[in-house]
Order: sequence, then C-alpha cells, then structure tokens
Amino acid sequence: MMWGTTALDRRINGYLISDATLRGIRDEAARAGVTFFDTAEGYGGGTSEIRLRRLGIPRAGGVVATKFLPTLWRWSEASFIRALRASNWRLGVECCDIYFIHTPIHPRSPDVWVRAAARKHGIRIAANQIMFNLLVSDAPSVRDVVKTCNELGIAVVGYGALGQGLLSDGLTRNKARANRFARLTGLSFDELSELRATIAEIAAGRSVSMAQVCVNWAMRKSVLPLVGIRSVEQLRDTVAATTFELSEAEVRCLDRAALSSSTFARPIARRAAFTVFISCLVTMYRLSHLFADRTAFISHERHTSAKIE
Ligand SMILES: NC(=O)c1ccc[n+]([C@@H]2O[C@H](COP(=O)([O-])OP(=O)(O)OC[C@H]3O[C@@H](n4cnc5c(N)ncnc54)[C@H](OP(=O)(O)O)[C@@H]3O)[C@@H](O)[C@H]2O)c1
Repeated sequence: MMWGTTALDRRINGYLISDATLRGIRDEAARAGVTFFDTAEGYGGGTSEIRLRRLGIPRAGGVVATKFLPTLWRWSEASFIRALRASNWRLGVECCDIYFIHTPIHPRSPDVWVRAAARKHGIRIAANQIMFNLLVSDAPSVRDVVKTCNELGIAVVGYGALGQGLLSDGLTRNKARANRFARLTGLSFDELSELRATIAEIAAGRSVSMAQVCVNWAMRKSVLPLVGIRSVEQLRDTVAATTFELSEAEVRCLDRAALSSSTFARPIARRAAFTVFISCLVTMYRLSHLFADRTAFISHERHTSAKIE
C-alpha cells in the first residue's frame, strides 16, 4: 500500500520508498522465505503493481495478490474483467494468484463481482482479506467472519496486523492522533493504554518487539498476518515473529485485552462518504498520472477495454 510512486503517494505517505530500499526488502524477503505479496490496483493508482513487476517478484515465484476496486462508476461484470486484465498486465503475469475485492464499498452487492470471477468459471473462493488485529478481534462481526471462513475452508488474510503502528513500539500521543485507523474509529491514545501495556509486558518477558507479539498472536488465530513493510529492518523484525510461539496463557491474556473497534459497524452515511472519497482518490490518481507519471494506468485500461469490446 505504501509502495506507490506518484506525487500523490508522496503527499499521503510523507515520502516515497526508494528502489534501492525495495530491492533490499525483496532480497531479504527471499532469504527469509517470505513469498506472499499483497498489492492492489488502487495502491499508487497501479504503480505499486508495476513496482512488483519491476522487482521481478511474480516471475521469481512470489505469490501475488491484487485487488479490484469497486469505484462508483464500475457497475458491470465487463468492468471487473477489464480491471483484472489491466492488473495482470501491470504485474506482468498471465493471471495473478489471488484477486481480492477491495473494501466492499459499492452499492451493488459483492456477490456481483464474485459471480463475474469465481462462480462462473468454477473458481473457488480461496481467501478473504479483512482487518485483523488486537484492536478489532473482539468485535462479534470479526469473530463471525473468521469462524465462517474457517468452516468454509477459506483462508483469512489479516491486514493491519500492527494497527498501522498503534500496536507497535514507539507510539506517542502525537503519532496516535495522526494515525489513520485511530481517526477512522475514533480510538484515542488513552483507550489503547491497557492493551498496549499487555502487549509490551509479553514482549519484554520474551525479549521480542511488540510487533512480533502481534504477528505471532495473529498466526495463533490461524490468520495470515499482512504487515506493511517499509524497511529491511522492519522485515527482519517481523520475520523473527515466526521463531517463537506464544503460550496458551499469553494468547488468552491478549484475547482478554483485545478491543472491538470494528470498522464493519460504520454507519451507512460514513460508508457512503467513504465510497465517494475512494472514487475521488482514484480520480486524483488518474490526474496525477496525466500530469506526472504516465506509467500505463490509463493507457492500459483503454487498451484492454478496446480488446474486450
Ligand atoms: N484490504 C484492505 O482494505 C487493506 C487496507 C489496508 C491495508 N491493506 C494491506 O495490508 C498491508 C499492511 O497494512 P497496513 O500497512 O495498513 O498496516 P500495518 O501492517 O498494521 O502497519 C504498517 C506500519 O507499521 C510499521 N511497521 C511495519 N513493520 C514494523 C515492525 N516490524 N515494527 C514496528 N513497526 C513496523 C510501519 O510504520 P512506519 O510508517 O512508522 O514505518 C508501517 O507503515 C498493506 O500494505 C496492504 O497491502 C489492505
């Protein structure tokens, strides 16, 4: 999500991650056996997908998941297939390994898109991506989704494993105030203190980082944790979470401290506002490509739509 290269990404994320850093992350990931990469057409207006291709990750056997963004102007199955083809082209693959539906924000049911891709072609639903961390895991809706996925044999991929920084070391009151997830749910620094103290105590007892405790906990819940890696050091730290196993007692202790700030329960008006916001963001990416970086987003969508029509 942080790997886009447009001027807009620089503004949203504060800086652009350099090619050298990404090559370092790629090489360290290969050494550590990390093979799963998550991207989306919406990340950097497609430039995140292009970066994965340029890093040679899909060709080197990496498992790449990308996502369809159901913006307001997409209503047909053809628009779904067009978007999938454009993503495949940007990734440089014949077919991506996993195609998620990004944030079900559209007035049409996600079922429309699932029919377009999966059921019609006899493809089974392999994975469901939801936010999964100690900030939301106590919400009944989150528990229900995980339980249902387990029953149906659908893997749960949990994004925001570190609560976008709310659950890792070094959080300050100012950082919490600026945090996107905190702003979305209205969570304050003080409301986090008990949960953070529990994570910190377990981390200190094992001489590991708070991030490692969160990642290990998610794995103990049979969820595949996705972590937004921005440096080689963060990758090394995160991977070290696979070298130990939290005890039953530690997992129970974390479960008791977990919060239920589900973003599923957002009121309809906020969801509608979010839909408009995402659609405007994509428009801004398109404009940003027009004026700065013409790397294929628009031209390729036109090309594939001509082919389909
Ligand atoms: N499906 C969806 O709607 C959706 C939504 C959001 C994200 N995602 C996916 O999930 C991925 C991860 O989510 P996310 O980036 O929002 O949340 P996250 O993984 O909870 O947080 C990422 C942030 O944590 C920090 N970090 C990473 N590794 C760390 C470590 N070992 N120790 C301490 N801090 C560490 C970095 O902060 P600094 O910035 O301080 O370096 C990074 O920006 C995204 O890249 C994206 O692929 C999907």
